[in-house]
Amino acid sequence: VPGGGGGLTGTVAVVTGAGAGLGRAEALALAGEGARVVVNDIGPAADETAEVVRAAGGEAVAHRGDIGDFTVAGELIGLAVESFGDLHTLVNNAGIIRDRMVFGMSEQEWDDVLRVHLKGHFAMTRHATAWWRQRAKDTGAPVRASIVNTASEASLLGSPGQPNYAAAKGGITALTVSTAAACGRFGVRANAICPRARTAMTVGVFGDDWDGEGLDPLSVDHVAPFVAFLAGPAADRVSGQVFVLHGGKVALLAAPRIEKRFDAAGERWSVAELGERVGGWFAGRESTATFAATDVLSLG
Ligand SMILES: NC(=O)c1ccc[n+]([C@@H]2O[C@H](COP(=O)([O-])OP(=O)(O)OC[C@H]3O[C@@H](n4cnc5c(N)ncnc54)[C@H](O)[C@@H]3O)[C@@H](O)[C@H]2O)c1
Repeated sequence: VPGGGGGLTGTVAVVTGAGAGLGRAEALALAGEGARVVVNDIGPAADETAEVVRAAGGEAVAHRGDIGDFTVAGELIGLAVESFGDLHTLVNNAGIIRDRMVFGMSEQEWDDVLRVHLKGHFAMTRHATAWWRQRAKDTGAPVRASIVNTASEASLLGSPGQPNYAAAKGGITALTVSTAAACGRFGVRANAICPRARTAMTVGVFGDDWDGEGLDPLSVDHVAPFVAFLAGPAADRVSGQVFVLHGGKVALLAAPRIEKRFDAAGERWSVAELGERVGGWFAGRESTATFAATDVLSLG
């Protein structure tokens, strides 16, 4: 268990999909800072991660279940409260991919990805925030809670082979901003990360091994400390934000800006005037200049 800073001592965290990859590293980083963790995964690997935490002297319970199931998500939040008496950090990380171009994608491939990512994030957020809201009412003071959602650059770039995944991740970004706006008044922060890491999910893109020197720039261990930071008091003023994480780099994304404003000459637009003014604006413009945030790629 890395870390050892102890900044999360006395806190309780839930991490979904923490049997492997990023979630496993994030659970270990939270435990390394002193958090008691509930380690969820759909597979048996949740037990192994919890065992690693306990072997290092930390406290962890494992939970096996599908976070895309609304009831199971509620049980997972309930398990944290039953096991450790409280909840402070929710890391929504579990995910799957079913890549295919939009014209060939099956309904099942669409539904599965939207369910695990977007509905999974919603279901966990719904149950956690309801608990925190009640807690704030009962105690008369805001809770100090943090939600870390896992978005992706796929949504920023409009990844062509991942229409389902890009849409789900874009939805997660919107859910994050909405949650931060709705729950800040009772002490809940919500932020989203767009990580880049070599895991089972990305083996096809990044390969399965690093043959360079030193720490792999795509190691999950670059991402995990940032999640522990977002969970803790040093991030008290950080909410409603989206970060891209790559190697030792953290990029804070700006909100979209208005690029160009068009005003109708009269009371309302005619189609012809729109063609001239808005259509004309695109005449000399690069066709690659779309809403896709290609600038973000310059980070790596
Ligand atoms: N690796 C990257 O470069 C990268 C980039 C952007 C976003 N992400 C996101 O990071 C998150 C973690 O991905 P990873 O790369 O570690 O992948 P991974 O495949 O190594 O880990 C995902 C984990 O989630 C679990 N899981 C899947 N469906 C589940 C469900 N319904 N309920 C509970 N657990 C479930 C899996 O069993 C697995 O252990 C995902 O949300 C992914 O979309 C990863």
